[in-house]
Amino acid sequence: MKLGIHHTPGTFSDRWIAYCQANGITFKIVDCYATDIIKQLEDCDALCWHWHHADEKAVLFARQLTYSLEAQGKKVFPDSATGWHFDDKVGQKYLMEALGAPMVPSYVFYDKKEALEWLDTTTFPKVFKLRGGAGSSNVKLVKDAGAARRLVNRAFGRGFAARDRFSRFNDGIWRFKRDKNFAAVTGIFKGLARIFIPTSFEKMHGREKGYVYFQEFIKANNYDTRIIAIGRKAFAIRRYNRKGDFRASGSGVIGYEKELFDERCVRITFDLAAQLPSQSLALDFIFDEKNDPLIVEMSYGFSIQVYDNCTGYWDQDLNWHAGPFVPQHFMIDDLMAEITADKMIAT
Ligand SMILES: Nc1ncnc2c1ncn2[C@@H]1O[C@H](COP(=O)(O)OP(=O)(O)O)[C@@H](O)[C@H]1O
Ligand SMILES: [Mg+2]
Repeated sequence: MKLGIHHTPGTFSDRWIAYCQANGITFKIVDCYATDIIKQLEDCDALCWHWHHADEKAVLFARQLTYSLEAQGKKVFPDSATGWHFDDKVGQKYLMEALGAPMVPSYVFYDKKEALEWLDTTTFPKVFKLRGGAGSSNVKLVKDAGAARRLVNRAFGRGFAARDRFSRFNDGIWRFKRDKNFAAVTGIFKGLARIFIPTSFEKMHGREKGYVYFQEFIKANNYDTRIIAIGRKAFAIRRYNRKGDFRASGSGVIGYEKELFDERCVRITFDLAAQLPSQSLALDFIFDEKNDPLIVEMSYGFSIQVYDNCTGYWDQDLNWHAGPFVPQHFMIDDLMAEITADKMIAT
C-alpha cells in the first residue's frame, strides 16, 4: 500500500508526512500541479492533497483531478463527496435542502427581476453572502430593502471582488483592539496594503456576479459552534462574535470546554457526514429562537493549530474521549482502513 501526498508546507500535509514517517506508512511526494500527475500516482493507492479554497490554481482543477482518480478506482482525501461543496455556499444550500439537513433558510436568485420582486415580499434584516470566502469576510447584515436592492443591483452589475478587501483591514483593527501587540499592528498595515493590492486569487478568479444569495438572519447568537466529524470521531470549538458584530468565524476568540457544546450539533454532524458520505465535515451552527441548532455552512478543510487546544473528541455513540489528538492522523487512519477494505473485497 502506498499513499501519494502533495506537500504544501503549513497545510495538513506537514502532519500527514510526519505520521507516515513515524508509523512506517509507505508514501511518496507528488506534485498535483504537474501535467503528469496521473502518471506520478500510478504506483499509489491514494492521493492526499489538502487544497485550499484561496489557492487560485487548485480551485481550477482539484475537483476534476479527484473525480478522475476515483474513476480509476483510487482513493482520494478529500474525495468528491467530501470536497465538491467546499467554499460554495450556493452548492451547500441545495445539498442540505436535498438531504433535509437543518440549515438556516437560504435563498438564491439568478435573475435580477426575480430577486427584486422577492425583496418586496420578504422581511428584514437578512444576511447577504457571496458563495465563497471564509472568516466572515464575505458575510454582511442587510438591514432593509434599500440596502438589499443595492446589493442586488451590484450582483447583476459590476459584481463583487471574490474576497472583500475592506474586511481584512477591519479584521486587522479588530485584532489590534483584541490583542494590542506588535503582530496586531503589522496586521493592520497588511490589511491596509490589501485594500490596494489584490491577492493573486482575486486577480485570477474574476468577480462574483450573476447570482445573489441571502439567508434569514438568526438573531441573538453571540457565538457559533463548529463541529468537525472525521470518520467516527468528532470534535468542536466555539467561536465568539467580534465585539459589536453578529459574525463569529475569524474572530479568534475561541472556547474549548466540553460543556460549551450542544450534543445535538455533534449528532447532526455525524448524521450528515454519513449521508454524504464525507471523510471530513465541518459544520458551523447557530441557534434559532426555540434554541434549535441550524447549520450556517459546511467545509471539508479547517485551520490547523486552532484545533490543537481541543480537549477531547466524541465517538459515534457520543462517548467523550478526553485528551489531545491530531485530526490529520484520523484522516490517514481512515484512508488506510478504506484501502485495506477495498483490497480485501478485490481478493
Ligand atoms: N444567517 C445567519 N444569521 C446570523 N448569523 C449568521 C448567519 N450566517 C452567518 N452568521 C454569522 O456569521 C459568521 C460567518 O458566516 P459563515 O456563513 O460561516 O461564513 P464564513 O464562510 O466566512 O465563515 C458565522 O460564524 C456566524 O457567526
Ligand atoms: Mg463559517
